[in-house]
Amino acid sequence: MEISIRNEAESDYRKVEEITREAFWNLYVPGCNEHYLVHILRDHPDFIGYLDLVAEHEGRLIGNIMFTKSYVMNEAGQRMDTLTFGPVSVLPVHQRKGVGSALIKTSIEKAVDSGYKAVIIYGDPQNYCRHGFKNGKDFGVSAPDGSYPYGLLVVELEKGVFDGHSWKFFSSEAYEFDNNAVEEFDDQFKPKAKEHKHSQDVFSIQIRAALK
Ligand SMILES: CC(C)(COP(=O)(O)OP(=O)(O)OC[C@H]1O[C@@H](n2cnc3c(N)ncnc32)[C@H](O)[C@@H]1OP(=O)(O)O)[C@@H](O)C(=O)NCCC(=O)NCCS
Repeated sequence: MEISIRNEAESDYRKVEEITREAFWNLYVPGCNEHYLVHILRDHPDFIGYLDLVAEHEGRLIGNIMFTKSYVMNEAGQRMDTLTFGPVSVLPVHQRKGVGSALIKTSIEKAVDSGYKAVIIYGDPQNYCRHGFKNGKDFGVSAPDGSYPYGLLVVELEKGVFDGHSWKFFSSEAYEFDNNAVEEFDDQFKPKAKEHKHSQDVFSIQIRAALK
């Protein structure tokens, strides 16, 4: 499938929010909030504009990926800046054709060029292990409470960068937002039914799971 990848332009904003809504709707919870997250993320100081990418196919937007600054802190209090991506979305009709992989690969190549040493995300291993991600535990990178959540995934951009220390991962506050604002924002989009899907039960188990 022929796609081109470029930076998001302001004229893409609404379309990207629609794509995000379509991709996430009813997937992890009834409805979704990721389109609102995309909407507010762009104005946050931790947002990284040059890693804000869209995928186009036959002149139409079909996917996007966004990054924020994050960091890890080791037991000696040394801090290292890292990157986090999310949301990453591909229109359902174009999923499983390599578009998400292309967005992840292109953005990670850009991240390497900018000197970042690791990308750390909360995500589904099913989606990301194919891109070299491993659980944080494999690198001694935990959540702030010292646990190793199932979905805490790390890829080194510089080999061995975590060696010899234990680290805690801190994601951007950009991902903490008022859920009440989501409903009001969602009213601007075409109505969609909130439904239960078994993927929501899988997600509910995954977000409570951790590695021992
Ligand atoms: C997760 C997501 C971004 C991945 O994007 P995608 O374009 O569907 O992913 P890719 O096509 O690159 O890779 C996924 C699968 O397609 C396969 N694939 C890749 N290129 C392919 C091609 N040319 N032909 C057929 N299959 C292909 C991959 O091997 C993989 O297969 P598998 O899952 O059966 O093992 C997308 O599915 C999505 O938007 N999902 C909903 C939102 C979401 O969950 N986002 C992530 C939050 S954690």
